[in-house]
Amino acid sequence: MDYCNRFSENVALPVCLITVKSVSRVNSMTVAWSTPLSSNPPLFGFSIRKNRYTYQLILKEEEFTVSFLSLEKSDLAVKLGRISGREGDKVSAISLKLKDSEIVQSPYVEEAYFSMECKLENIFETGDHDFVVGKVLAVHPSKNILKESQPAIYLGNDTFTTIDLSQVKKFETKEIVASIRNSLSNRGVQND
Ligand SMILES: Cc1cc2nc3c(=O)[nH]c(=O)nc-3n(C[C@H](O)[C@H](O)[C@H](O)COP(=O)(O)O)c2cc1C
Repeated sequence: MDYCNRFSENVALPVCLITVKSVSRVNSMTVAWSTPLSSNPPLFGFSIRKNRYTYQLILKEEEFTVSFLSLEKSDLAVKLGRISGREGDKVSAISLKLKDSEIVQSPYVEEAYFSMECKLENIFETGDHDFVVGKVLAVHPSKNILKESQPAIYLGNDTFTTIDLSQVKKFETKEIVASIRNSLSNRGVQND
């Protein structure tokens, strides 16, 4: 077994749903390979296999929403991540609760702790996935709620956990940086 190919199993990944509305039908799929990319302009990206039905809809509508799930709602990640929209309307089949977006036509997931409305900005080919970049046009809610949200973290093999707030570390950054700078100035500038 080539463990290099399975490196992502050792990376803690937050779980989100990518939702797209095309004509009258809404489809949603689970994504664990995602990341913020830029604050100004606000850009967010995720990896998607070319064969996903959602990908086809993103190319057509040039927009999507991103909804992050709590551990309590992580069953949605399995329900929407193990069946394709090509098989039928999975969103209706599981009675996914949706909310109308402010700017884009695709709704976001009401049961998520945090959602973003995105316009398609760019696509890059990256190995066996493509990387989709969206410009964030609106966020719900527009305040910091991470500490109250118990975000679902994917551990592979349809297993999820969350962050443990009894194990938080806070650093005295100013003092740490000052001490390192002090030690650097005592050494003087080193030229290689
Ligand atoms: C926990 C989990 C994480 C997933 N992460 C991704 C991902 O990052 N990228 C991807 O292309 N598919 C990912 N998938 C698989 C898709 O969600 C799955 O193939 C889905 O059925 C595609 O739906 P669609 O064909 O309706 O778009 C993941 C599935 C699960 C269960």
